[in-house]
Amino acid sequence: MADLDGNKIEKNYYTEKAFATNGNFHVKGAANLDWGMKKHLTNIFNPRTGNTVMFAFDHGYFMGSVSGLERLDLLLPRLVDHVDVLMATRGALRSCVKPNFRKGIALRVSSGSSMLNDDLSHEVVAVDIEDSIRMNADALAVQVFIGARGQLSSIDNLSKVINAASRYSIPTLGVVAVGKDMERTDQYFKLATRIVAEMGVNIVKTYYCDKFEEVVAACPVPIVVAGGKKLPEKEALEMAYRAMQGGARGLDMGRNIFQSVHAAQMADAIGKIVHRKFTAAEAWEYYCEATKTK
Ligand code: 5RP
Repeated sequence: MADLDGNKIEKNYYTEKAFATNGNFHVKGAANLDWGMKKHLTNIFNPRTGNTVMFAFDHGYFMGSVSGLERLDLLLPRLVDHVDVLMATRGALRSCVKPNFRKGIALRVSSGSSMLNDDLSHEVVAVDIEDSIRMNADALAVQVFIGARGQLSSIDNLSKVINAASRYSIPTLGVVAVGKDMERTDQYFKLATRIVAEMGVNIVKTYYCDKFEEVVAACPVPIVVAGGKKLPEKEALEMAYRAMQGGARGLDMGRNIFQSVHAAQMADAIGKIVHRKFTAAEAWEYYCEATKTK
């Protein structure tokens, strides 16, 4: 094709260069947003470090009572002091989190499929903007299924939530979903995270992968990394460290915290990597020390 002659096809992510349009605000891509948005984002990202530890326990919206989350009422009091944000459904928050909880809330607003379905990629927007405001949410979380059968409806869900949330200066968190048959490659995550960011989300949640720093560089809003399936604690801390080294602005971790025998100490060790620049080895040593007598 003649019109492709001379087109540049190789990509350059300039990973060594800092994001150029941040002004003096601590959240990537948010310098031009209004006061309300910045206030919510500051409830999520610590202004001292620019980072966050989010505890994800929204799994029940499609998995029911997952191992480790059977009794939210008993688990949450042990964890809330060790994390910056709770990511959950409105049902879990209203029933099991005291309203005097003073940290961030990422409210899961998309829902609709369960593990009994072959295809989880068809969701709906289950929580409307009025109830999100009543919950005082700092971000609305929507699952996005790029490349899956439900891609179009999930993009529709995301657009509706961004349009509604923007009217009230509430940030949106796009959760890049990876089905069991999908590849966890940097090519896939570059595609999916960038599409979700261009849709207008303020935070992207995705998985760690090879060349993660390129995924981060090409995404104009902060990336928080999901924990994924339970790993031995040492490996989970190593993954968290690599993600932060690669430019993630935090972890949004579930099973690797709540399925650990020492969930609070695990959350605490993650926090040392995220906010205190601990290496993986230092965090592991900290975790071992903290759990010695437990
Ligand atoms: C579900 C989610 C979960 O919040 C996410 O998977 C985080 O949990 P984990 O660290 O256990 O993967 O977004 O779609």
